[in-house]
Amino acid sequence: MKQLGQLFANNKNWASAIEEEHPGFFQSLVSQQSPEYLWIGCSDSRVPANEIVGLQPGELFVHRNVANIIVHSDLNALSVLQYAVDVLRIKHVIVCGHYGCGGIIAAMENKRHGLIDNWLCHIKDIYECHESRINKLESEDERTDLLCELNVIEQVNNIAQTTIIRDAWLRGQKLVIHGWIYSIHNGLLKDLDISIDAV
Ligand code: CO
Repeated sequence: MKQLGQLFANNKNWASAIEEEHPGFFQSLVSQQSPEYLWIGCSDSRVPANEIVGLQPGELFVHRNVANIIVHSDLNALSVLQYAVDVLRIKHVIVCGHYGCGGIIAAMENKRHGLIDNWLCHIKDIYECHESRINKLESEDERTDLLCELNVIEQVNNIAQTTIIRDAWLRGQKLVIHGWIYSIHNGLLKDLDISIDAV
């Protein structure tokens, strides 16, 4: 029995709609991809990378994990970054967090969530660094949203410090790292104005 038939039906419709609008579209992507952007975002189903920025297959290289974290020991994330920078020669790395992030909320709670708490330690560290500033805010939502923004800033800095990015800048490769945040309330992006160019 065929499972999840609706998804296959959706896929068929999607592929034929694209092919109808741009004949030969998929064939043109078979032998190469040349995206200009690497998107590092949250796994949250409400934050779909390509859709948010209106990009087609082939235009956005994507890495997503819980709370869009890039740590220097994560071989998965670093491999994506290296391939994007060294091979695809992308021009922009975009770290995109989102308000109301479940990973951030979980990191701020004083309760256990299982294995993921080890991952969320990275967020707890950021929280501890900025605790007094965050706790001055009145509502829970404001506190969460500030930590969502601070997390993006931290991850942009982490990326800038990787050997991958430093080596790229040393050899004169043009590459900018951006920090954005997305609102699940209205579907809009905000640039946090923390872009880092070659340093
Ligand atoms: Co999230």
